[in-house]
Amino acid sequence: MKVTPYQDERSKKEQVAGMFDNIAPRYDFLNRFLSAGIDQGWRKKTVKAVQAHGGENLLDVATGTGDLAIALAKSGFQVTGLDLSHGMLEVGREKVKSKNLEDKVKMVQGDSENLPFESDHFDLMTAAFGVRNFENLEKGLSEMHRTLKPNGMMAILEFSQPEAFPFKQVYNFYFKNILPTLGKALSKDPKAYGYLHDSVQAFPYGDEFKDVLEKIGFKEVKTKPLTMGIASLYTGIK
Ligand SMILES: C[S@@+](CC[C@H](N)C(=O)[O-])C[C@H]1O[C@@H](n2cnc3c(N)ncnc32)[C@H](O)[C@@H]1O
Repeated sequence: MKVTPYQDERSKKEQVAGMFDNIAPRYDFLNRFLSAGIDQGWRKKTVKAVQAHGGENLLDVATGTGDLAIALAKSGFQVTGLDLSHGMLEVGREKVKSKNLEDKVKMVQGDSENLPFESDHFDLMTAAFGVRNFENLEKGLSEMHRTLKPNGMMAILEFSQPEAFPFKQVYNFYFKNILPTLGKALSKDPKAYGYLHDSVQAFPYGDEFKDVLEKIGFKEVKTKPLTMGIASLYTGIK
């Protein structure tokens, strides 16, 4: 069954864009607050992974308010950030401007499942907490693969599921009960954090997601669980 934010008749893509437009003004605050800042450490690890591979011209898909794009630009990359949500991009553009990074980060509205770029174009490709929201996961990943240059690296940061006892049980209680209640009160979108929980539960992680990436054509796929497996960093080469 497809997990969507609002369970109405609109496509998942329309619902996801609408949800992120709704929560955009509070997205950064909620991320920092609800993850106790851990999310920024995960983004730093993603930057390090692509830095180790090398390259210059990078596409950050589902860039949102641009936290990863900005961290990448500060590390010297020339970044294009693409996102469906106008609201998220507006917040991102303001941040890029206030950090004087306009010559390093270009933000464009677009759909990861139909990327407006030619094939074999980018040296590197990243996505943080984005691919889980795609309407058609394999289509989105195939587009990322298509627009990446041969031997280029993609790095995907996404939520996964902790497995170790008792961390798993404690975390699941927080994630299922406390987080949606806090998110509902703070984000002004009653559905957004319930969707976060449900979409993570339904999303492949670990070896299952590695298999998907290999099926798309990525080679040398590696998985690195972060913070007891709350998130994972997947890398692969075209
Ligand atoms: C959880 S946010 C992550 C934003 C950012 N990467 C970060 O790490 O904070 C997910 C983003 O994915 C975007 N998104 C979802 N589906 C998309 C698609 N098909 N094409 C482009 N962006 C998409 C949403 O609009 C949203 O901004």
